Amino acid sequence: MNRMDNFVYEYLVRVCFGKDCVRQHLRQLLECCGETVLLAYGGGSVRKNGIYDQIMGELKAADKSVVEFAGIMPNPTYAKVQEGATLVRENHVDFILAVGGGSVIDCCKIVAAQAKSSQDIWEMEFTDHRYPQEWVPMGAVVTASGTGAEMNNGAVITNEDKKVKADLLGAYADFALLDPASTLSLPMGQVISGAFDTLSHCMETYFGKLDHVILSDEISEAVMRNVIRNLRILTENPQDMEARSELMWASAMGENGILKIGKVTDFQAHQMEHQLGAYTDCNHGQGLAVIHPVLYRHIYENNIGRFARFACEVWGISPKGKTEQELALAGIDALTDFIKEVGLPTTLTEIGITDEGILKAVADTCNITAGCCKKLTCDEIFEILKECV
Ligand code: NZQ
Ligand code: ZN
Repeated sequence: MNRMDNFVYEYLVRVCFGKDCVRQHLRQLLECCGETVLLAYGGGSVRKNGIYDQIMGELKAADKSVVEFAGIMPNPTYAKVQEGATLVRENHVDFILAVGGGSVIDCCKIVAAQAKSSQDIWEMEFTDHRYPQEWVPMGAVVTASGTGAEMNNGAVITNEDKKVKADLLGAYADFALLDPASTLSLPMGQVISGAFDTLSHCMETYFGKLDHVILSDEISEAVMRNVIRNLRILTENPQDMEARSELMWASAMGENGILKIGKVTDFQAHQMEHQLGAYTDCNHGQGLAVIHPVLYRHIYENNIGRFARFACEVWGISPKGKTEQELALAGIDALTDFIKEVGLPTTLTEIGITDEGILKAVADTCNITAGCCKKLTCDEIFEILKECV
């Protein structure tokens, strides 16, 4: 493919970013959202860090009647989606407020769409290939950044019966509130895995097709450099609000569509990680950290010029005295070193995954993406996963 595709870019999510943005904006944003709000959150972090009380205060002040939807787990399940949809229908909910990270936001996107349809949404999307046209309106208060889930209508849901973790399409949030201070209570391990997820989203877009460099790629390079620099700063000093803010906005940039303009994205590493998640419930950013370098060593020769450019532009490696291949490999080495430096795992063993039977099942059920520079087979994916151990 040699030409940038035609595109239409429209942005549906109103983003309010920065210190105190919940206090400054939430009440007003809720004004025209009806009377009954579903307040959705995870396993309880929002109750410990005060965000729950703050939001409840705003909802009360806005005269809303509140229905709670608690306990949305990391890697949200399809059963949890159905529980939420039932709550929305039974309580005639007018608006869904998702308060959390990618898991809570994703779950709510599909709750919002399922509540408006009598058809099972999994069947609708994966059997009939039809996608929701209406949903209960929702908004997001982001408490963990990295996924950029607040910026799009894709949602990654684990169907435990089918053993599949898949991308469904659901609601767009009408608004997203991003206060970097909301992430201060997040354990550092999650901050780091979230930031790596952002880096991964950029790489998965950057290494997709087109082969020649376009504006989207150059913006991606800037976002990647930014994530690497700010994650280094934050691992040294978790209180650095500047670095936290940069990472939160970089996360949003990774998934607001701008980097994808004109590109066919890759996302092969994501597909592998998602299926690994379906079988092991592993942490998303950690799974990606293990998979990326091993996958890239398998495929770089099919996109060698781009991998060489990645080494220079993202990692600052001098091309002097190196062949293109040496340069490309030096970039992948730099990525591996960075993963170790920030304390992310580099093997599946470190995250407790060693069972070859599981890896085989993951490989056999993993989607093969069209945007990856090498079209992999299930056998190759199995080999890559075994190397990850
Ligand atoms: O459940 P609680 O108690 O809130 O604890 C959560 C959870 O245990 C905790 N947490 C969140 N905010 C906190 C906090 N703890 C203390 N203080 C806070 N302020 O963090 C833990 C992880 O939360 P989770 O939402 O699971 O993390 P993340 O944001 O990384 O989301 C991961 C999910 O998003 C999907 C992943 O596959 C995974 O299911 N993704 C969604 C994407 C999208 N929609 O665009 C793109 C991504 O590639 C990704 O696949
Ligand atoms: Zn991701």
